[in-house]
Amino acid sequence: MTRPLRVAALASGRGSNLAALIAARDAGRLPIEFTLVGSDKKQAGALAIAAAAGIPTVSMNPKDYATRAEFDAALFGRVADSGAELLVLAGYMRIVDAAVVAHWEGRAINVHPSLLPKYRGLHTHRRCLEAGDTEHGASVHFVTAELDGGPVVAQARIPVHPGDSEDDLATRLLVEEHKLLPAVVGAIAMGRLGWQDGPVFDGTALRQPLDLADFL
Ligand code: GRF
Repeated sequence: MTRPLRVAALASGRGSNLAALIAARDAGRLPIEFTLVGSDKKQAGALAIAAAAGIPTVSMNPKDYATRAEFDAALFGRVADSGAELLVLAGYMRIVDAAVVAHWEGRAINVHPSLLPKYRGLHTHRRCLEAGDTEHGASVHFVTAELDGGPVVAQARIPVHPGDSEDDLATRLLVEEHKLLPAVVGAIAMGRLGWQDGPVFDGTALRQPLDLADFL
Protein backbone atom coordinates (compact mmCIF):
# COMPACT_ATOMS: atom_id res chain seq x y z
CA MET A 1 0.00 0.00 0.00
CA THR A 2 1.08 3.57 -0.63
CA ARG A 3 2.01 5.78 2.30
CA PRO A 4 -0.72 7.45 4.32
CA LEU A 5 -1.94 10.88 3.25
CA ARG A 6 -0.80 13.62 5.62
CA VAL A 7 -3.87 15.46 6.89
CA ALA A 8 -4.32 18.53 9.07
CA ALA A 9 -7.65 19.69 10.46
CA LEU A 10 -8.96 23.00 11.75
CA ALA A 11 -11.93 23.10 14.09
CA SER A 12 -13.55 25.71 16.29
CA GLY A 13 -15.83 23.56 18.41
CA ARG A 14 -16.80 20.19 19.73
CA GLY A 15 -14.85 18.16 17.18
CA SER A 16 -17.20 15.27 16.51
CA ASN A 17 -16.30 15.25 12.82
CA LEU A 18 -12.63 15.14 13.74
CA ALA A 19 -13.42 12.26 16.10
CA ALA A 20 -15.13 10.41 13.24
CA LEU A 21 -12.00 10.76 11.12
CA ILE A 22 -9.79 9.53 13.94
CA ALA A 23 -12.11 6.58 14.57
CA ALA A 24 -12.08 5.61 10.88
CA ARG A 25 -8.31 5.82 10.82
CA ASP A 26 -8.03 3.74 13.99
CA ALA A 27 -10.34 1.13 12.47
CA GLY A 28 -7.97 0.84 9.51
CA ARG A 29 -10.51 2.32 7.11
CA LEU A 30 -8.64 5.54 6.37
CA PRO A 31 -5.04 5.60 5.10
CA ILE A 32 -4.16 8.93 6.66
CA GLU A 33 -1.92 10.35 9.35
CA PHE A 34 -2.68 13.56 11.17
CA THR A 35 0.05 16.17 11.16
CA LEU A 36 -1.77 18.85 13.17
CA VAL A 37 -5.12 19.91 14.58
CA GLY A 38 -5.50 23.66 14.93
CA SER A 39 -8.13 25.97 16.33
CA ASP A 40 -9.02 29.61 16.77
CA LYS A 41 -10.56 28.65 20.14
CA LYS A 42 -8.36 27.50 22.98
CA GLN A 43 -11.26 25.65 24.60
CA ALA A 44 -12.35 23.79 21.46
CA GLY A 45 -13.30 20.21 22.19
CA ALA A 46 -11.52 19.25 18.99
CA LEU A 47 -8.17 20.14 20.56
CA ALA A 48 -8.78 17.82 23.50
CA ILE A 49 -9.87 15.03 21.15
CA ALA A 50 -6.71 15.50 19.09
CA ALA A 51 -4.43 15.63 22.11
CA ALA A 52 -6.00 12.44 23.50
CA ALA A 53 -5.24 10.77 20.16
CA GLY A 54 -1.61 11.92 20.29
CA ILE A 55 -2.01 14.44 17.45
CA PRO A 56 -0.02 17.71 17.69
CA THR A 57 -2.27 20.69 18.35
CA VAL A 58 -2.08 24.44 18.04
CA SER A 59 -4.49 27.16 19.06
CA MET A 60 -4.19 30.80 18.16
CA ASN A 61 -6.34 33.71 19.22
CA PRO A 62 -7.44 36.00 16.37
CA LYS A 63 -7.46 38.89 18.85
CA ASP A 64 -3.69 38.61 19.10
CA TYR A 65 -3.38 39.63 15.45
CA ALA A 66 -4.04 43.01 13.86
CA THR A 67 -5.75 41.66 10.76
CA ARG A 68 -7.45 38.55 9.43
CA ALA A 69 -4.65 38.16 6.89
CA GLU A 70 -2.00 38.12 9.64
CA PHE A 71 -3.92 35.62 11.75
CA ASP A 72 -4.56 33.35 8.81
CA ALA A 73 -0.95 33.59 7.65
CA ALA A 74 0.16 32.47 11.12
CA LEU A 75 -2.34 29.64 11.62
CA PHE A 76 -2.25 28.30 8.07
CA GLY A 77 1.51 28.72 8.08
CA ARG A 78 1.61 26.23 10.95
CA VAL A 79 -0.60 23.90 8.94
CA ALA A 80 1.77 24.12 5.98
CA ASP A 81 4.81 23.61 8.22
CA SER A 82 3.22 20.42 9.56
CA GLY A 83 3.62 18.90 6.11
CA ALA A 84 -0.11 18.45 5.54
CA GLU A 85 -1.14 17.49 2.03
CA LEU A 86 -4.85 17.86 2.75
CA LEU A 87 -6.53 20.35 5.05
CA VAL A 88 -9.91 19.47 6.49
CA LEU A 89 -12.08 22.24 7.88
CA ALA A 90 -14.18 20.32 10.38
CA GLY A 91 -16.42 22.88 12.01
CA TYR A 92 -13.94 25.72 11.53
CA MET A 93 -16.13 28.78 12.01
CA ARG A 94 -14.03 31.57 10.56
CA ILE A 95 -13.93 33.12 7.12
CA VAL A 96 -10.47 32.56 5.67
CA ASP A 97 -8.33 35.15 3.91
CA ALA A 98 -8.56 34.84 0.12
CA ALA A 99 -4.80 34.59 -0.44
CA VAL A 100 -4.59 31.72 2.03
CA VAL A 101 -7.53 29.96 0.40
CA ALA A 102 -5.89 30.32 -3.00
CA HIS A 103 -2.73 28.68 -1.65
CA TRP A 104 -4.78 25.62 -0.60
CA GLU A 105 -6.89 25.38 -3.75
CA GLY A 106 -7.80 21.79 -4.43
CA ARG A 107 -6.20 20.68 -1.17
CA ALA A 108 -8.71 21.90 1.41
CA ILE A 109 -12.23 20.60 2.07
CA ASN A 110 -15.03 21.74 4.35
CA VAL A 111 -18.05 19.96 5.78
CA HIS A 112 -21.19 22.08 5.87
CA PRO A 113 -24.59 21.13 7.32
CA SER A 114 -26.84 21.89 4.36
CA LEU A 115 -27.52 20.71 0.84
CA LEU A 116 -25.36 23.36 -0.80
CA PRO A 117 -25.90 25.63 -2.63
CA LYS A 118 -28.81 26.01 -0.20
CA TYR A 119 -28.09 27.73 3.10
CA ARG A 120 -24.50 28.88 3.04
CA GLY A 121 -23.34 30.31 6.35
CA LEU A 122 -25.02 29.89 9.72
CA HIS A 123 -28.30 28.49 11.12
CA THR A 124 -28.78 25.99 8.34
CA HIS A 125 -31.21 23.75 10.27
CA ARG A 126 -33.43 26.69 11.19
CA ARG A 127 -33.45 27.96 7.62
CA CYS A 128 -34.33 24.52 6.30
CA LEU A 129 -37.30 24.32 8.69
CA GLU A 130 -38.41 27.86 7.93
CA ALA A 131 -38.39 27.09 4.21
CA GLY A 132 -40.58 24.05 4.77
CA ASP A 133 -38.09 21.72 3.07
CA THR A 134 -38.91 18.03 3.19
CA GLU A 135 -35.25 17.12 2.87
CA HIS A 136 -32.08 18.33 4.55
CA GLY A 137 -28.50 17.28 4.26
CA ALA A 138 -24.79 17.84 4.57
CA SER A 139 -22.20 18.68 1.95
CA VAL A 140 -18.45 18.31 1.64
CA HIS A 141 -16.91 20.81 -0.75
CA PHE A 142 -13.52 22.02 -1.84
CA VAL A 143 -12.75 25.35 -0.22
CA THR A 144 -12.69 28.46 -2.39
CA ALA A 145 -12.69 32.16 -1.54
CA GLU A 146 -16.49 32.18 -1.52
CA LEU A 147 -17.91 31.16 1.87
CA ASP A 148 -19.35 27.64 1.60
CA GLY A 149 -19.27 28.22 -2.15
CA GLY A 150 -16.61 25.86 -3.53
CA PRO A 151 -17.41 22.84 -5.72
CA VAL A 152 -19.48 20.29 -3.81
CA VAL A 153 -18.05 16.79 -4.03
CA ALA A 154 -20.43 14.76 -1.87
CA GLN A 155 -23.73 15.07 -0.06
CA ALA A 156 -25.73 13.04 2.43
CA ARG A 157 -29.50 13.51 2.74
CA ILE A 158 -32.01 13.07 5.53
CA PRO A 159 -35.79 13.48 5.48
CA VAL A 160 -37.36 16.30 7.48
CA HIS A 161 -40.16 14.87 9.64
CA PRO A 162 -43.23 16.86 10.75
CA GLY A 163 -42.47 18.43 14.12
CA ASP A 164 -38.70 18.25 13.75
CA SER A 165 -36.80 20.86 15.75
CA GLU A 166 -33.44 22.37 14.84
CA ASP A 167 -31.83 20.04 17.36
CA ASP A 168 -33.57 17.01 15.85
CA LEU A 169 -32.17 17.87 12.45
CA ALA A 170 -28.72 18.64 13.78
CA THR A 171 -28.58 15.36 15.67
CA ARG A 172 -29.74 13.20 12.78
CA LEU A 173 -27.59 15.03 10.27
CA LEU A 174 -24.44 14.72 12.34
CA VAL A 175 -24.69 10.92 12.04
CA GLU A 176 -24.53 11.35 8.27
CA GLU A 177 -21.70 13.89 8.42
CA HIS A 178 -19.69 11.36 10.38
CA LYS A 179 -19.96 8.92 7.48
CA LEU A 180 -19.65 11.45 4.67
CA LEU A 181 -16.48 13.22 5.77
CA PRO A 182 -14.42 10.03 6.28
CA ALA A 183 -15.69 8.70 2.94
CA VAL A 184 -14.49 11.83 1.14
CA VAL A 185 -11.16 11.95 2.95
CA GLY A 186 -10.68 8.24 2.20
CA ALA A 187 -11.37 8.80 -1.50
CA ILE A 188 -8.78 11.58 -1.57
CA ALA A 189 -6.26 9.46 0.34
CA MET A 190 -6.72 6.60 -2.11
CA GLY A 191 -6.35 8.87 -5.11
CA ARG A 192 -9.93 8.42 -6.36
CA LEU A 193 -10.91 12.01 -5.68
CA GLY A 194 -8.68 14.94 -6.53
CA TRP A 195 -8.46 18.32 -8.16
CA GLN A 196 -7.44 19.30 -11.69
CA ASP A 197 -8.91 22.75 -12.28
CA GLY A 198 -11.94 21.34 -10.43
CA PRO A 199 -12.95 18.12 -8.70
CA VAL A 200 -12.07 14.86 -10.43
CA PHE A 201 -13.42 11.45 -9.38
CA ASP A 202 -12.10 8.19 -10.82
CA GLY A 203 -10.38 10.12 -13.60
CA THR A 204 -13.42 12.11 -14.72
CA ALA A 205 -14.44 15.69 -13.96
CA LEU A 206 -17.09 15.59 -11.26
CA ARG A 207 -20.30 17.16 -12.55
CA GLN A 208 -22.61 16.47 -9.64
CA PRO A 209 -22.10 15.67 -5.97
CA LEU A 210 -21.41 12.08 -5.03
CA ASP A 211 -23.42 10.29 -2.37
CA LEU A 212 -22.23 7.72 0.12
CA ALA A 213 -23.01 4.79 -2.15
CA ASP A 214 -20.56 6.12 -4.77
CA PHE A 215 -17.67 5.54 -2.38
CA LEU A 216 -18.37 1.84 -1.84
C1 GRF B 1 -20.94 20.36 11.90
O1 GRF B 1 -22.32 20.36 11.78
C2 GRF B 1 -20.31 20.88 10.64
O2 GRF B 1 -20.99 20.52 9.48
C3 GRF B 1 -20.37 22.36 10.83
O3 GRF B 1 -20.15 22.56 12.20
C4 GRF B 1 -20.48 21.38 12.93
C5 GRF B 1 -19.23 20.97 13.62
O4 GRF B 1 -19.46 19.92 14.51
N1 GRF B 1 -19.49 23.05 9.93
P1 GRF B 1 -18.22 19.20 15.19
O5 GRF B 1 -17.37 20.26 15.82
O6 GRF B 1 -17.49 18.43 14.13
O7 GRF B 1 -18.83 18.31 16.22
